[in-house]
Amino acid sequence: MGSDAFGELLRECRLAVGWTQDELAGRSGVSAHSISVLEAGRRQPRLSSVGMLAEALGLDPGRREQLLAAARNAVAPPAPISPPEPPPAPQVDDRPSIPVPRQLPCAVAGFTGRTAQLKELTSLLDRDDAVVIAAINGSAGVGKTALAVHWSHQVADRFPDGQLYANLRGFDPSGQPVPPAEAIRGFLDALGVPAQGIPAGLAEQAALYRSRLADRRVLVVLDNARDTSQVRPLLPGTARCMTVITSRDNLGGLIVSEGAQAIALDLMTSAEADDLLASRGPGAAGRRTAGRQRPARNVRAPAAGAEHRRRASHPHPRPVADRAGRAAA
Ligand SMILES: Nc1ncnc2c1ncn2[C@@H]1O[C@H](COP(=O)(O)OP(=O)(O)OP(=O)(O)O)[C@@H](O)[C@H]1O
Ligand SMILES: [Mg+2]
Repeated sequence: MGSDAFGELLRECRLAVGWTQDELAGRSGVSAHSISVLEAGRRQPRLSSVGMLAEALGLDPGRREQLLAAARNAVAPPAPISPPEPPPAPQVDDRPSIPVPRQLPCAVAGFTGRTAQLKELTSLLDRDDAVVIAAINGSAGVGKTALAVHWSHQVADRFPDGQLYANLRGFDPSGQPVPPAEAIRGFLDALGVPAQGIPAGLAEQAALYRSRLADRRVLVVLDNARDTSQVRPLLPGTARCMTVITSRDNLGGLIVSEGAQAIALDLMTSAEADDLLASRGPGAAGRRTAGRQRPARNVRAPAAGAEHRRRASHPHPRPVADRAGRAAA
């Protein structure tokens, strides 16, 4: 069996689901041109591309193995014959050129403390045996987003294929949590999938998303998640990617089923709150002194001022601001 047989089989599988080459391209991440030459038997397939095609086509295990076997045979070196034939065409990288997303929001100016948690997150970078997920949990306003974004900027260069970020608004008092399909569409768009190539169903979207991330090293930040069901479709499928989730929920389901590493975030220690105030300059230090004569709630770290106003009508406490305020009092 050679490239021809592989091409015929690929074409048969594609027609079985009724897709054009363009549709398969949009859903698999393999370019339409590559699919066309593969089906015509004019190019030897790369096994990574065959995996992406099989996943997009939703092949059952038997059919998938058949396609992979055909691909392996197609890439096997030809038996020596005389006179020697021209060497096989060099393998080309069928991976589409995907844009490198850089979606991280600005890091918190004057980020302070959280040394142990930063270290814990960094230690996960060297785990490449399994899909790596860090789940930062803690109560409202404790500093989960600030930690996740600050750390992500610190290690962004360890993820040369990009950084994806979504604010899932899981506990936003002004609106509904972002549906996973909406977040996934944003990620697919950032990964260069044209709108017409995005399938309708969430499961198919998630499969395409995972295909796009396969073989790539991307950091995925899922911020302010509501619960496990909101984030599960947004998890990459390979160990080269890492996911950082922040949530007020402890995401127990992910810890049990996906082996996520829980990173619990508590109120800042008094020393950290002192450092935070000191980092805000003499004005903050002055307020700290003045604050001794005032009720604590009147004195807050400047950085938390905007957040304080945003949360003014919020039912939850304002721990970072409050702790800094207490330190200042
Ligand atoms: N380590 C820190 N250093 C400096 N400022 C911080 C730090 N942690 C949090 N803040 C500030 O405190 C405020 C609240 O932090 P943040 O939004 O990260 O909390 P959160 O736990 O993500 O809240 P929520 O549960 O609402 O998502 C922000 O203004 C943030 O900039
Ligand atoms: Mg947050």
